[in-house]
Amino acid sequence: MITQRPKGTQDWYGSNMHKRTIIEGIARKLCKVYNIKEVITPAFEHTILFQRGVGETTDVVQKEMYTFDDKGNRSITLKPEGTAGTARCYLENGLFAESQPTKLFYFTQAFRYENPQSGRLRQHHQFGIEFFGSASPLAEVELISLLTEFMKELGMKGAKLHINSIGCSNCRKTYNEALLDYLKAHEGELCPTCRERMLKNPLRVIDCKVPSCKVIVKDAPRTVEYLDEECKNHFEELKRLLTELSISFEVDTGIVRGLDYYTKTVFEFVNAEGFTLCGGGRYDNLIHEIDEKQNIPAVGFGFGIERIINELAAEGVELEPEPAVDLYVGILGQEAKASAFMLVQKLRAAGVIVETDYMDRSVKAQMKYANKIGAKHTVIIGADELANNRANVKNMETGEQVEVTLDKIADLFVS
Ligand code: HAM
Repeated sequence: MITQRPKGTQDWYGSNMHKRTIIEGIARKLCKVYNIKEVITPAFEHTILFQRGVGETTDVVQKEMYTFDDKGNRSITLKPEGTAGTARCYLENGLFAESQPTKLFYFTQAFRYENPQSGRLRQHHQFGIEFFGSASPLAEVELISLLTEFMKELGMKGAKLHINSIGCSNCRKTYNEALLDYLKAHEGELCPTCRERMLKNPLRVIDCKVPSCKVIVKDAPRTVEYLDEECKNHFEELKRLLTELSISFEVDTGIVRGLDYYTKTVFEFVNAEGFTLCGGGRYDNLIHEIDEKQNIPAVGFGFGIERIINELAAEGVELEPEPAVDLYVGILGQEAKASAFMLVQKLRAAGVIVETDYMDRSVKAQMKYANKIGAKHTVIIGADELANNRANVKNMETGEQVEVTLDKIADLFVS
């Protein structure tokens, strides 16, 4: 038990850790040119934030949150997603009072008590962006363009953009009536949770994961048929902009998303198996829901880092490998140790990736080790090399050796 991590969690090390670093690097580079600033919010928040923001009738709040009372008897929840905390941060720190829009990105862990089948972790990680202050469909377009660029740079080809509009609270009134009528006619076939939630929030039944509910939902009325003029125009404008920008998309009227804060646009990037890699949308009411003095539109997305890694593997995409060790500095004799280590430090300061001996191995064992770790070159530093200020640098692939003065070794690697 002590040596076993909790179910649904993952350790990050080795090649996965390296991939994550590359993914985050590409995301950061893009956010920089889109002028999107990084934000880090706490790993836990007051439970009420998620109950209000994400929604009482969602699966996330009803079934999946890690909630506990802290020692001061406050109800605390480990964040199940990144939007509510970022919106709270935007409000609490008065970011809305600065020139708008406010564009924030984050890398966050998220905790959901889910069934850890493939692709569903209890702690997962997201690259997310939240764009506050713009009601224009161009905000959606900006995020979708960034995502398109992001996937292109990663070499991911299999994700297709699906969009839908679920309207605003005004459209929801007429839609909910129609949906409730339909669901009531099939009440007996719905799961117990849906039988209850259809009265409070029928839209949640649409994305219930229970198979019998999925069957009923297939023929349920669609939100797009109930959009008011403003929401219809917003959706048309979004589609027009995407078309003009040659960003291909498919309208999928089945997408409603699993969190309550969405209004108007919802979108997902879905892989060839129909698995959602990234999800997002507009949430024009969330800010008001958290702070009733404010009324600020917003849009955002979350992209699961683990899903990116899995998708790249499934598509056979290799990310740039970890850089190899440029030079292994072997140490010959105790008396050479300090000077050899000083040389190692000088080379590192010059930007050369250097490894050396910390195990007091024989020179033969050191060379074996250098070979094992894939060092591209080796050099042995002993009393003679130090006295003559010269050493032989060996290319491990060709076996070729060059003799150089110690202060010129770095020049072989960095120009
Ligand atoms: P979400 O669709 O719940 O949306 O999650 C976003 C992404 O996080 C998913 O598309 C998936 O890649 C990843 N993800 C979610 N749950 C898991 C899990 N259990 N295991 C592994 N990966 C997972 C949100 O969280 C919203 N906050 C997105 C958003 C931001 N909407 C507006 N702004």
